[in-house]
Amino acid sequence: TAIQATIQSDETDVTSDQLTTREITILYATDTGNSQALAEEFGQKLESQSFKVTVRMMDDFKPKQLKNVQDLFIVTSTHGDGDPPDNALSFYEFICSNKAPKLEDVRFSVLALGDSSYEYFCQTGKQFDERLAELGAERLHPRVDCDLDYEELAEGWFDAILSKVTEKSTVNNQRPSTSSNKEMDGDQPSHSKKHPFRAKILENLVLNGRGSNKETRHIELDIEGSNLTFEPGDSLGIIPENDPDLVMNIIEETGWNPDESVPVSKSGDVLSLREALTTTFEITTLTIPLLEKAAELSTNETLKQMVLTQNKENLLAYMNGRDLLDLIRDFGPWKVTAVDFIKILRKIPARLYSIASSSKANPDEVHLTIGTVRYQTHSRDRVGVCSGQFAERLEPGDYVPIYVQKNNNFRLPSNPETPIIMVGAGTGVATYRAFLEECEEQASTCKTWLFFGEQHFLTDFLYQVEWNKWLKEGVLSKMDVAFSRDHEEKVYVQNRMLEKKKELYQWLEQGANLYVCGDEKNMAKDVQKVLLSIIETEGNKTAQEAEAYLSEMRKNKRYQRDVY
Ligand code: 2AM
Repeated sequence: TAIQATIQSDETDVTSDQLTTREITILYATDTGNSQALAEEFGQKLESQSFKVTVRMMDDFKPKQLKNVQDLFIVTSTHGDGDPPDNALSFYEFICSNKAPKLEDVRFSVLALGDSSYEYFCQTGKQFDERLAELGAERLHPRVDCDLDYEELAEGWFDAILSKVTEKSTVNNQRPSTSSNKEMDGDQPSHSKKHPFRAKILENLVLNGRGSNKETRHIELDIEGSNLTFEPGDSLGIIPENDPDLVMNIIEETGWNPDESVPVSKSGDVLSLREALTTTFEITTLTIPLLEKAAELSTNETLKQMVLTQNKENLLAYMNGRDLLDLIRDFGPWKVTAVDFIKILRKIPARLYSIASSSKANPDEVHLTIGTVRYQTHSRDRVGVCSGQFAERLEPGDYVPIYVQKNNNFRLPSNPETPIIMVGAGTGVATYRAFLEECEEQASTCKTWLFFGEQHFLTDFLYQVEWNKWLKEGVLSKMDVAFSRDHEEKVYVQNRMLEKKKELYQWLEQGANLYVCGDEKNMAKDVQKVLLSIIETEGNKTAQEAEAYLSEMRKNKRYQRDVY
C-alpha cells in the first residue's frame, strides 16, 4: 500500500526560503516487492526529515499529475525479458508517448533493480532514466543500477539523494527528526532478509506419483515464536546454501585451502573458505560483470580475449547453463588467492516462493510448493540451489533461514462477494491453495473458479484431494483441469478457458478478479492472448477495445499476475 506523508514544515516562522521546499514524489514498479519496500523505506526516511512525500505504485499514479511533480524518484525492477513490471505498464506507456508533458521543472533520479545474469539488465530503469531526461527533467543524481544484492547500492543512492534534497532545501524548514518514532513502531517486521528466522522443517513430501517427469515438493515450516505475519499472495524468502560437493570441487580445482579464513562482509566478518562458498556467495550463475572481473584476475588469454572483444552475444552464450566451476575449469590456471577471487562474487540471492497456506488455517506454519529444478548442461547434472537443497539435503527437523516478502500486487478482493478466477499451471497453484484455505476459514460465499494445468492426471494432480474437498464443500465453485500430456494433442489451461468462454466472460462482467500464476514466458503470455480473444468475441469488441478492457481490469487490480 502506498503511504502518503503530509507533514508540513513549521509555519510559525516562515521565511521566503522555506517556501522553496519542494515536494517529493517516489514512484515504484515492482515484481517481487523489493522496489516497493525500498520506495516505502526511502519515503519514511524523507518523511522523518519533514519532507512532504508521496509514495505510489506507478500505475496508481495519475499521469496527469506529472505536471505538478517537483522532485521525482523512481525505483523500478525489470522483468527477465526486459519489460517493465505489470504495475508500471500504463505509466510507462504514457511517459513514452507524445502525450507526456515537458518536465523542465522536475528534478529526478532512478534506482534500477535487476539481475546482471540477464541480457536486459536494469532495462526498465535505463528507459525511464533516458526518457525523463528527454522530457527535459534535470537529473539530480545519476541512475544507480543494482544487481540481486541491491541493499548497499540502494542505501548509497538514498543517502546521495537525501543529501542533495537537503542541501537544496533550507535548513530551517526541517523539524527535528521523528525517526525515533518509527523505531518504536510495533509493526516493523521482526525478521527480514538481513535477519531471517530459522524455521524448523516439519514436512518435506513429494507430491508427484511414481513415474512422473516432475518432482514437486510440499514443504511445511514451523514459524512458532517468529512473529512473522503474512497474507495469501505473499511470498516466503529462503536463504539457501550451495551444494557442498560443488563447493569442494571448486576448491580442489583451484588448490585453495578450504579452512583458510576469508572476509565475507565489509564489517570484517570472516568464515572459512568452504563455509563462505557454501553460505555467502553465489557460485551457480555467471554474469557479465563477473566474467569481466575474472578476466582481470586471470592470465588466461582466451578468457581475456572473450571479454575484450566485448561481444555480448558470445559472453551470454558462454554464461548460459554454466557455473563458477565451469569458469574455473575452462580458464585456468588461476594464480589468484581465494581472498582476491571471492571479492568478485555476488552474494547468494534469496529464493522467493509463493506461500501455499493461510495463516488463519495454519497458525504458526508456512507451507510451500517447490518444484525441483534438475537439468543437464555441458555434460554435468545440475540442480537448482534451493529446490535441490530440499530435494537432497533437508529433512524434517532441519532448519532454514526465512523471511516474509509482502506482495500487495497479488491479493484476494477486499470485497468478499467478488468472484475470483484462478489460473495456474504446475507450482503456480501454490497461492490458490492459500486463497482457498483463507476462503474456507472465513466461510466466504464468493464464487471461485480454478483452472489448473499439469502434465499427467495420474501423477501430477497437485493437491487433488484438497481441491476435491473444497469442491464438495462449495469453497471452490468450479474447477477445470488441463493435463497436457494425457492426450495426443497438448491441452493447456487456456484451451479450457476458451471452451468456457461464455461463462468466463460473464464472470468478468459480474466483476470477477482474474489471477494468473506460474511460468511467464509461455503460459502467462498465451493465457493473456486467449483472454483478450475471449473479451473480444464475447464482448463484441475490437482488438483495441479488448486491450483497453484488460488494461482497465489491471488498473483496478482485477487482473493480477504473479509470474516468473
Ligand atoms: P507441457 O510441459 O506438457 O508442454 C505445468 O508445467 C504445465 O504447464 C504442463 O502441463 C505444461 O505442459 C504446461 N505448459 C507448457 N507450456 C504452456 C503454455 N504455453 N501455456 C499453458 N500451459 C503450458
